[in-house]
Amino acid sequence: MVIGPNGAGKTTLMDLITGKTRPTRGRVYFDGHNITGLAPSKISAKYRIGRKFQGPNLFENISVRENIEIALHGHSTVLRTLTYRRDADAEARIGGILEQIGLAGKSEMNAAALSHGERQWLEIGMVIAQEPKLLILDEPTAGMTVAETAKTGEMIRALKERHTIIVVEHDMAFVRQVAENVTVLHQGEIIKEGLFSEVEKDPEVIRVYLQDF
Ligand SMILES: Nc1ncnc2c1ncn2[C@@H]1O[C@H](COP(=O)(O)OP(=O)(O)OP(=O)(O)O)[C@@H](O)[C@H]1O
Ligand SMILES: [Mg+2]
Repeated sequence: MVIGPNGAGKTTLMDLITGKTRPTRGRVYFDGHNITGLAPSKISAKYRIGRKFQGPNLFENISVRENIEIALHGHSTVLRTLTYRRDADAEARIGGILEQIGLAGKSEMNAAALSHGERQWLEIGMVIAQEPKLLILDEPTAGMTVAETAKTGEMIRALKERHTIIVVEHDMAFVRQVAENVTVLHQGEIIKEGLFSEVEKDPEVIRVYLQDF
């Protein structure tokens, strides 16, 4: 979990990890590989770093299921040459993802008909379809209702079993619910790292960030 005041550099850090921005200095290592300055497409496909963006990234006029299907096929050359057997595998994968994002009951619904929170979950599902080793979520609960936020927390806790996840968040109740390790950024630098229970007591962290809550 990455937290810190507005302009601390949280999104910029995610841009550096995913190759959207090149660092002027320093290096980015992932899984022992130096990925500094590589093309975003290579970082996502070869190193399997997936990111859910803030803006809408789904197709409005097709179903929830079809959105997942596109995310799945678009990134797998194996699945593009569908045999009957692979088709059945793909169906099972899609079903599994729909369960994980809590939209199994709405799979035939048009994506345009989903609530704001459900759309966010579908977008998470579309990133999961690419089987990322590292999943990056920048403010996933922004604009969600309290109930949707809590459900997102449960979802992320379950996803942690299979993926490494970096979440950027401003919702402290959510951070407390989900976080294992918390990194606090301020003016582009790490000022504190550790369990949220420790981080939230740190005078410096309270001064630059938490006192605003
Ligand atoms: N290490 C850095 N050195 C210099 N400038 C930086 C650094 N990190 C971020 N910036 C600049 O600071 C500004 C805000 O950064 P960024 O958008 O990453 O903040 P944020 O932590 O995501 O804030 P918010 O919580 O509002 O989303 C950007 O213009 C970015 O270019
Ligand atoms: Mg940001």
